[in-house]
Amino acid sequence: MTEILNGSVLAKNIREKAKKRVTDLNHPPGLGVILVGDNPASALYVRLKIEAAKEVGIFVERHQFENDATTEMIVSKVNELNARKDINGILVQLPLPGGQSTDEIISAIHPVKDIDGFHPENRRALLANTPVLVPPVALAIMRLLQASRQPLRNKHAVIIGNSEIFAEPLIELMREAHVSATFVNRSTEALSAITRAADIIVVAVGKENFLTKDMVKEAAIIIDVGTNKIKNKTVGDASKELEGHAGFMSQVPGGVGPLTVAYLLMNVIKAKELQDKEAV
Ligand code: GUN
Repeated sequence: MTEILNGSVLAKNIREKAKKRVTDLNHPPGLGVILVGDNPASALYVRLKIEAAKEVGIFVERHQFENDATTEMIVSKVNELNARKDINGILVQLPLPGGQSTDEIISAIHPVKDIDGFHPENRRALLANTPVLVPPVALAIMRLLQASRQPLRNKHAVIIGNSEIFAEPLIELMREAHVSATFVNRSTEALSAITRAADIIVVAVGKENFLTKDMVKEAAIIIDVGTNKIKNKTVGDASKELEGHAGFMSQVPGGVGPLTVAYLLMNVIKAKELQDKEAV
């Protein structure tokens, strides 16, 4: 039997808490969203984030740029939002279409408005055990692991992905939970042997049916971060054949996605609270 780790239910709970925290503030928090280009997946994620933010009472502004916008144009918008008192959180949807410097743009966001937790200062703070704004996706994955109610201490996790910015904060949160983690990518040599040794597998490669039964130890915990559009359906990276083999598994949709959005809203509120405190 595989138990499904339901992100939607957990996310609803967090959104209700977010709504309550917003009503306790003197002003609604403000979120500035920057979307560059016309990637349909990015446009969809941005729409979901904006809808969820509005639903809990966050004020949202969407700033759209063309595919060929320059780094300078985007940094200039970031600086404008940095200076605004009514904007507490800034989100630049990734990946950028190309031709822009992701590092330069992320570094331009004021660290206290960096609700994705991607700014070098926030990354360093997390590694130094003094976290301020922590990447929502890493929080979402840890919450799903907790939802399994399994002792995590001394477990071994394998994270399969292609982005260091995604893996680094997750490895740190796992370390704090006494989980040892190995980061690999889809072309790592002898990948199956590595994943078969794992108690926990986090898969984020963006390829449907990537993670198959032969790669997974029986009763392992699978967290599926993939989102792949197949015709009109969204599916993850884990094959259906894992149901009945894995011990616990998150689903796509309804797993990491809604929880990540919920934690993003919490970060906007946290950012607003921090900024209110600093202004005193
Ligand atoms: N693209 C995929 N995941 C993310 C995320 O967590 N934040 C941003 N800004 N872009 C993303």
